[in-house]
Amino acid sequence: MALKRIVILISGGGSNMMAIVRRCAEEGWPAQVVAVISNRLDAGGLALAAAQGIATRIVPHCAHATRDAFDEALAQTVDSFVPDLVVLAGFMRILGAGFVQRYAGRLLNIHPSLLPAFPGLHTHRRALAAGCQAVGATVHLVTPTLDHGPIVMQSVVPVHPGDDERTLAARVLATEHVIYPLSVRWFVQGRLQIEGGLVRQLDCASQVLM
Ligand code: GRF
Repeated sequence: MALKRIVILISGGGSNMMAIVRRCAEEGWPAQVVAVISNRLDAGGLALAAAQGIATRIVPHCAHATRDAFDEALAQTVDSFVPDLVVLAGFMRILGAGFVQRYAGRLLNIHPSLLPAFPGLHTHRRALAAGCQAVGATVHLVTPTLDHGPIVMQSVVPVHPGDDERTLAARVLATEHVIYPLSVRWFVQGRLQIEGGLVRQLDCASQVLM
């Protein structure tokens, strides 16, 4: 059977992207990361992907006058790789409804909070200010609403006395490197089913990392 084609969108260091690339190769998923695309020229993950022999492209958001024009240019670049799955991994641009609908059901995102709590930016700062005793990360299918959509998997990370934004972000990121590759593997293996806006793992594997 043909390998599922994964395109990953990044804006920064690309540690989640690399976690997916490594696990895909190590575990022999029925998939291949065919391209890594960034909206930023200086995204550190681009060089990491290129070093793995993965095609890289830059679609700079500042080169486009409107959000729609950027979304269209990005979609054309994504489509040139004929993806089965598009993975947002630290992609820091809000995508319009047209883009999201184009990849409906095959667009994944990771967000560093226990959604539906704290969509948007500065999640760890806001969780600390709210006195949360646990934080975490969420992998979800993308809908046109920001940081919203059927939840594939979550990680739960306890808040320790003395934690600050930096220590929490580091502990949560380490869990992202576990739950994102696992979620992508389930997707490419066809082990996820969406029913009534909820995601079921067909082997009844746990969808939470504690
Ligand atoms: C991660 O915390 C992710 O949840 C958020 O941006 C960060 C990206 O990190 N959306 P990296 O580029 O994968 O290292």
